[in-house]
Amino acid sequence: MSLSSRVPVLAIDGPSGTGKGTVGSHIAKTRGWHLLDSGALYRAFAFAANEQGIAPDDIEGINALDRETEFAFETTASGEVEIRVNGREVSMRVRGEQGGRLASMYAAVPAVRSRLIEHQRSRRQDPGLVADGRDMGTVVFPDATLKIFLTASPEIRAQRRYNQLKSKDFDVTLRRLEAQIAERDQQDASRTVAPLVAASDAVVIDTSRRGIGEIVEEVDGLLSIRLRDRD
Ligand code: C5P
Repeated sequence: MSLSSRVPVLAIDGPSGTGKGTVGSHIAKTRGWHLLDSGALYRAFAFAANEQGIAPDDIEGINALDRETEFAFETTASGEVEIRVNGREVSMRVRGEQGGRLASMYAAVPAVRSRLIEHQRSRRQDPGLVADGRDMGTVVFPDATLKIFLTASPEIRAQRRYNQLKSKDFDVTLRRLEAQIAERDQQDASRTVAPLVAASDAVVIDTSRRGIGEIVEEVDGLLSIRLRDRD
């Protein structure tokens, strides 16, 4: 077993608006664990590629971009992840649905995913890592201590995303968001590499009608049991 594989990982996967980020940041904060918002990495990468005119199928360009660009993520006191590309703060530019659409487009490219995998694995450091995304439990951390897959009805997910984006002053409508999220889910679930799917050993939790506090408690309780059992 390598040194880093002894570091515990909580993998939280699922589509947009299921509460992955909120649940993950609560648990990371209370346990003092590191947090990996892998969607932010895909968003930042796609933003930089698009800005530099690198097409998703330009493998040379993708590799060069990865070599020459520094992506940094800092969790603020409120649990938000601040995104920096070569030192430039780009959070507001990548957090909207346009940023999500671009991320989903580049995320379907095998060369992009393989370049980003090591970035993600390098975040596995003591005392533990909470990682949220689409393929944390299936591809990036297949040996995660606990794998959670969150789901919720499309209406509730769209409403949550709407509230989240509105609170950050994004110009969005619920109807448009519903359509955009459905399109992104369809693209993420149907791609050939690392599609959005629950790992066979994931605990699936429907968050539609439950409060965030309740979900945090359930996931944290399951994590405590797994941590105790592996000692
Ligand atoms: O989680 P978030 O909505 O920020 O992710 C944006 C997009 O990045 C997703 O729709 C997906 O296409 C891609 N993504 C991914 N794998 C991850 C995390 C995000 O493909 N682990």
